[in-house]
Amino acid sequence: MVTRPFPIDLLRRNDIYSSMSISNIVKQQITQGSWIRRMFEEGIRLKAKHGTDSVCDLTLGNPYLDPPPEFMKALRKVVKDEKPGVHVYMQNSGYPETRDRVAGRLRTDFDLPFTRDHVVMTVGAAGALNVILKSIVEPDDEVILVSPYFCEYGFYICNHQGKKVVSPATRDFLPDLEDLERRITSRTRAVIINSPNNPTGRLIPADTLESLGNLLRARSEDIGHIIYLISDEPYRRLLFDGLEYVSPLKYYDDTLVAMSHSKDLSLAGERIGYLAISPKCRHAADLFDAAIFLNRTLGYINAPALMQRMLAEIEAIRPDVRVYQAKRDMLYGALKDMGYDVLKPEGTFYMFPRSPLPDDLDFIKVLQDRLVLVSPGSGFECPGFFRISFCVDDRVIERSLPRFEDAMKSV
Ligand SMILES: Cc1ncc(COP(=O)(O)O)c(C=O)c1O
Repeated sequence: MVTRPFPIDLLRRNDIYSSMSISNIVKQQITQGSWIRRMFEEGIRLKAKHGTDSVCDLTLGNPYLDPPPEFMKALRKVVKDEKPGVHVYMQNSGYPETRDRVAGRLRTDFDLPFTRDHVVMTVGAAGALNVILKSIVEPDDEVILVSPYFCEYGFYICNHQGKKVVSPATRDFLPDLEDLERRITSRTRAVIINSPNNPTGRLIPADTLESLGNLLRARSEDIGHIIYLISDEPYRRLLFDGLEYVSPLKYYDDTLVAMSHSKDLSLAGERIGYLAISPKCRHAADLFDAAIFLNRTLGYINAPALMQRMLAEIEAIRPDVRVYQAKRDMLYGALKDMGYDVLKPEGTFYMFPRSPLPDDLDFIKVLQDRLVLVSPGSGFECPGFFRISFCVDDRVIERSLPRFEDAMKSV
């Protein structure tokens, strides 16, 4: 029998790739998330054409501060450790010493009996959120998001066959509890909140958290299963004006916290975070076991080892929020004077003004023409607004101000 060579050219044909390559759902998601790529590409194009310094890029959520000096000191110390076996596999939950340190901090801060068995070290908050969602979501279960929200949530929910349900925030960017209640069904499995919030900078106050806790308790009982409260907290140590963080842990027992040090310690590239399960959670031990298993099977295995050992040394260190607060003050004051409708952020390094044009994408174009790059509110499922990231050098903010003014006058 004559065997014919495999028709390799057939495999190279684009039409075959396009019908058989990536899944439709991923294709759709890439399209949905394409504004990020478009903004990024536009930034590169404008910088190449006009020079990096001429463009005010206010799109990225990369911290402006360098990591604290204690970080390099702690890192040098852990790198010097040459004990045999120091780089081998570890427990999927993370080093016990690091989890002890984190649990100790949570005990002190939130007055709950956290132990290392409530803490799983994760690959940032993103890793923690994926582990949490995979642990609790059955196919077609619903997860409620309060818009505006960090756009990746939708993709994470989809990763685990859940469905997102969007509840628009109130005018002052707090969860609208009446609306949220209407969206709870027998398939609701979780609600995600993020305080202080990306993109609005809003801190959810105690009374709202208390009412939310009461609502979720009552509705969990009605529908006969727990509705988890997932609290995404990467900015909880970035609060201004001496404000104290208010934790939902106090108001709702079935709370799962996703935390990371990407923003407060400026370690976004190092991917260090954790999941904390409330000690009052009804199924804390099962959730802990699930999270350990899923850290492994989702392919993270464990959070970066060096970063865990480093964190055990510097967990108590706080960022110098005055730097971000001064930037907020400069930008907020100026935008208000120009007539922008904007809420003063209580934390984070984002601001979310209303677009002076009904379509935020149109206004973003007006700003782009003046070499100012911002992110559209549509990307946070909140059209009619835009996000400014003010984690940039003061000079970039200063340069952007006359252009914001000119843009406002032009519409
Ligand atoms: C609200 C929010 N949650 C989660 C994340 C992801 O954080 P990490 O980089 O720690 O995974 C981000 C990052 O920008 C964020 O803004």
